[in-house]
Amino acid sequence: MGEELNRRKFLTYVGTGVTALTVASAGLGAFTPKVVEAKGAKAASHLFGRNKKVSGVNFKPIKPTDKDDLVLPRGFKYDVIASYGDVINKKGETFGYNNDFTMFFPMKGSNERGLLWVNHEYTSDLWVTGPKKDGKYTKDQIEKLLYNQGGSIIEVYKEDGVWKMDTESEFARRITGLTPFKLTGPAAGAKAVAGAHTVQGTFANCSGGKTLWNTVLSAEENYESTSKDALLNETHYGWIVEVDPFNKGFSPRKHTSLGRFHHENAAMGLTNDGRVAVYMGDDKTDACVYKFISKHKYIKSRKQANSVLLEEGTLYAANLSKGEWVALTLEAVQKKAAGNQEILAKFQTQADVLVHAHEAAILLGATPTDRPEDVEISPFDKSVFIAHTNNSKHGNIHGHITRFLEGNDDLGSLTFDFEIFACGGRQSGFSAPDNLTFDSDGNLWTVTDISSSSVNKGVFSSFKNNGVFVIPTTGRNEGEAFQFASAPVEAELTGPCFTDDETTLFLAVQHPGEETEDMNNPTSMWPHRKGDNQPRPSVVAITGFHY
Ligand code: FEO
Ligand code: CA
Ligand code: CA
Repeated sequence: MGEELNRRKFLTYVGTGVTALTVASAGLGAFTPKVVEAKGAKAASHLFGRNKKVSGVNFKPIKPTDKDDLVLPRGFKYDVIASYGDVINKKGETFGYNNDFTMFFPMKGSNERGLLWVNHEYTSDLWVTGPKKDGKYTKDQIEKLLYNQGGSIIEVYKEDGVWKMDTESEFARRITGLTPFKLTGPAAGAKAVAGAHTVQGTFANCSGGKTLWNTVLSAEENYESTSKDALLNETHYGWIVEVDPFNKGFSPRKHTSLGRFHHENAAMGLTNDGRVAVYMGDDKTDACVYKFISKHKYIKSRKQANSVLLEEGTLYAANLSKGEWVALTLEAVQKKAAGNQEILAKFQTQADVLVHAHEAAILLGATPTDRPEDVEISPFDKSVFIAHTNNSKHGNIHGHITRFLEGNDDLGSLTFDFEIFACGGRQSGFSAPDNLTFDSDGNLWTVTDISSSSVNKGVFSSFKNNGVFVIPTTGRNEGEAFQFASAPVEAELTGPCFTDDETTLFLAVQHPGEETEDMNNPTSMWPHRKGDNQPRPSVVAITGFHY
């Protein structure tokens, strides 16, 4: 671990950071950052095989703004690819509401054509279902509620510099709250899920991740209201789901080994001995950070059959006081709860532990933290970044980003150290860090999620609308945030995802005009479509990244 810290300190950037920003501000144009190796930094040699791509802090940061637009630095533009209600395929299926996580799957290695998986997190009474009557939705409303959550698989391509959706696609389809899913792992068929092997649909899909075998993981987050409104068994939701965007024959599944909680995302990597590690956040105040480690090893040639790795393994939660990953096993829970009949009655099988993972984690000494949302593994040094969005219960109003340093740089380690990498607040210019993604230069692209009811008010005034910030994780600007984008009014920017060559950044603009009360007087009209009369959550492609 000490070695790890030293290695990071040895890395020096030339041409990035302050110098680069000065150059850009002076209008002297683009520059090419270079990584140089300081004396004795042999351990960092793996970095020099990397091709520096074109993203990074290569722009003039924008200032906070309350403009009702997706505002970008000079030289960048966005194309709206798909908006709520758009037809996505020949069958006439439509794009769901409140798009969140996006993940690009290139076709034939292309950076200009591929499938884009998009999560749909929740709906709106005003714009989607219509209001409840006597506290209930009708059957039709429930169908809308379920259809407009889940995921969309759309085919996207770039033509004459403009990104578009290909509605003739053979692959484009919807996965919704009505799609059958099979359960895998210890809770499949267990009493804890009412004996179910198959469940109805996925919803509350927040963020997610990509597996090493090119499938998508989507995280079921705040599942309670929809399962209640649709009269569905709550224990069938709150899981990590897996879908293969290219293959309809790969049955959509929920992996119960990864635990049930308010899943934000799933970041996958390999342990030093070749097993799969999946890091996960639980987006609630006073909730834990989790890691799943598979029992068996990843074998590349097995391709999608590697999915079975997510069916068997150990779920851990982080104890930050001790720097230990605590295994959530039935044995440990029963030992800890000895003599407490109420707890022992609740935890009789490993399925019970997984279904009630948060309770088990707290019982076993895992640390309650400040809304752990996105977790990402640095491609640079395998340190693990966690967005702790905020927790007003004890005064962490603007949140922070935590960095875990796994023992021996091994994602399979059961010990870790950590640091607070960056803090939200006036001093840093950002508040409420949420989704994260890395570029190949080791910069952390961070979106913010100040709630619609707080944005631009009181202690959130200085930040204006939500945004995208780029935070170098090494070099002289380590931990400093540079604003890249500003969201439309009352929107949250979610799901940043680069194409492999980093010439395009996909981004989901969620809930523009969320505080609207009167349909005839919306607080936002983004994306300002000609002839439209409402704001629409939409996915955009941002271009303009240059060397
Ligand atoms: Fe759905 Fe945690 O944001
Ligand atoms: Ca989120
Ligand atoms: Ca969030």
